[in-house]
Amino acid sequence: MDSATLPDSILIVDFGSQVTQLIARRVREAGAYSEIAPFTQAEEAFHRLQPKGIILSGSPAGVPEEGSPRAPQMLFEAGLPILGICYGQQVMSHQLGGRVEAGNQGEWEGEFGRAFLTVTQDCALFDGLWQVGERHQVWMSHGDKVTQFAPGFEIVATSDGAPFAVIADEERKFYGTQFHPEVVHTPDGGKLIANFVHRVCGLAGDWTMAAYRETKIAQIREQVGSGRVICGLSGGVDSSVAAILIHEAIGDQLTCVFVDHGLLRLNEREQVERMFRDHYNIPLVVVDAEARFMAGLEGVTDPEKKRKFIGGEFINVFEEEARKIGGADFLAQGTLYPDVIESVSFTGGPSVTIKSHHNVGGLPERMNMALVEPLRELFKDEVRELGRELGLPEIFVGRHPFPGPGLAIRIPGAVDKERCDILRKADAVYLEEIRNAGLYDAIWQAFAVLLPVRTVGVMGDYRTYDHVLALRAVTSTDGMTADVYPFDSAFLSRVATRIVNEVKGVNRVVYDYTSKPPGTIEWE
Ligand code: XMP
Repeated sequence: MDSATLPDSILIVDFGSQVTQLIARRVREAGAYSEIAPFTQAEEAFHRLQPKGIILSGSPAGVPEEGSPRAPQMLFEAGLPILGICYGQQVMSHQLGGRVEAGNQGEWEGEFGRAFLTVTQDCALFDGLWQVGERHQVWMSHGDKVTQFAPGFEIVATSDGAPFAVIADEERKFYGTQFHPEVVHTPDGGKLIANFVHRVCGLAGDWTMAAYRETKIAQIREQVGSGRVICGLSGGVDSSVAAILIHEAIGDQLTCVFVDHGLLRLNEREQVERMFRDHYNIPLVVVDAEARFMAGLEGVTDPEKKRKFIGGEFINVFEEEARKIGGADFLAQGTLYPDVIESVSFTGGPSVTIKSHHNVGGLPERMNMALVEPLRELFKDEVRELGRELGLPEIFVGRHPFPGPGLAIRIPGAVDKERCDILRKADAVYLEEIRNAGLYDAIWQAFAVLLPVRTVGVMGDYRTYDHVLALRAVTSTDGMTADVYPFDSAFLSRVATRIVNEVKGVNRVVYDYTSKPPGTIEWE
C-alpha cells in the first residue's frame, strides 16, 4: 500500500506471547488499525507502517535470560508513545537503563492469575477510568519483575507482587504494565488500551470492518500484482470469506478449488457449488478426490499422521489443479489466528504445538506457491463480521466452523468410506434437531464423533453390536476456550433415539461433557 492509503495505526511488536493477537483485537475494538510484527522485523514494519504508537507484547522468554528478545532501540527514539505489556514493560525498562530480575531469586516465585493493584498516581492511561486510591482487578502472569525503573519513569500503580504494576513517563508518553490488559480477566483492560489508542496516541477510533475490507483489498492487490491465485474452499466460513474478499480485490485472477476429499458433511459439495458458481460467479473447480484420500488414510490411526497426510495430499491436489489451469503464483487460505497460534512454535511466532492444523502445519516445504492469508490476524467472530460486510448470506456466515481435515478428525482410529457415511448421516440428524429446536445460533460448534468402539445393544428381538457415537456442542467466542452447551435431557434423548433408529451402524449415543481446556473442541 502506498503511504497515502495507510490508515493511522498502532504497531504491535511481538515477542512471542500466547495472547499477542488479543492486543490487536483490543486495538481493533478501539476502532484503530494495527499490525503485529515479530520483534525481528519490527524496524522494517515501523518504516512501512508509519504508526502513531507502539505496543510491546509479552513473551515466554525472560529479560535476564541470555539471548532473550529485544526491541529495536530506534523505536524508543522515534518520539512516539509506547505501551509495554508484561515482558514489554520489562524489556523497555531494561533497554532504557532500568533493572529486571529473574523470578527464581529469594522468596519471589512470580505472580500468576488474578491480582489486585492500587492506583497511586494519575496517568493518561487511567483517564476517565481509574482514580488514585482505587483497587482494581488485573491479570498477572510473570516470573521476572522490574526492580528498578528507568530514568524518567514513575510508579503509578502497585500490587503486592509487582511494586511496578504500572509505570509511566508522561513526558515521553511511555507506559508499562506488569499485568495483561489485553485479556478479559483484566476487566478494564480493553478500556486501558482504548485510552492508549485514543488519548495517548491521538487516533480517532473511526476505523471499522469496512475499512479493514478496504485495507485488505489494497494489500491483496499489492501482494498479488498481476499474478494468479488459487484458493482452497473448504465449505466453511473462513475460506469462503477469504475467497470472496480476494475475488473482490483481483476478480478472475482468482480460481477457487474445492476438493471433495470424501470427508465432507452431507450435501456440502452441492451447497458450495451453488453458492460460488451460481451466486457469486467465481470460477470454481471441483475435484473429486475421495478415492485417493481414502486410499491414503487406510490404516492410519495416529491423529497427527492423519492431519499431516490430509494437509500434504491437499497441497498435492492443489498443485495438480494449478498446473491444469496454467499455473498459479499464490495459494490463498482462510487461515485464522487460532490456527496460527496453536500450530507454530516460538522460534517462528508464538506458543507450543497442540495440533498441526492442516492449513498451516501440514504444508510441505516443497510447495512453490506463495501464501495469501488475508484473515490471518482475525478471530472467528471478526471473520463473520467481515463476511457480513462482504454481503455473504447470514445462513452461510453463521455456519459452525468445520475443520480442514474434515470428518477424519471426528473418527478416532482408522478412517474409511463406510465410517464417513455413517458419521455424515448421524451428524446431519443431530444438526437438524439442533436447528429445529432453534439452538443453532446459540452454539458455537456442534458435531458428532464416531468412536472406534462397538457395544452390544438390542433392537427388536435382535442383538446388535455397533459403533458408539459421541455428540459434542460447545459455546465459545473465538475457539480458544469453550464451554459445554447444556442441552436439556429431553433434547438429547430425542437425538439419541433418532440416530439409533435412523442411522445403521450406530447403537449407542453419548454426550461429551468436557470444556476446553482441558479438552480441545475436536477429538483429534
Ligand atoms: P480445537 O479442536 O483445537 O479446535 O479446540 C479449535 C477450532 O479449530 C477448528 N479446527 C481446525 N480448523 N483446520 C481448520 O481449519 C484444522 O486442522 C482444524 N483443527 C481444528 C475446530 O473445528 C474448532 O473450531
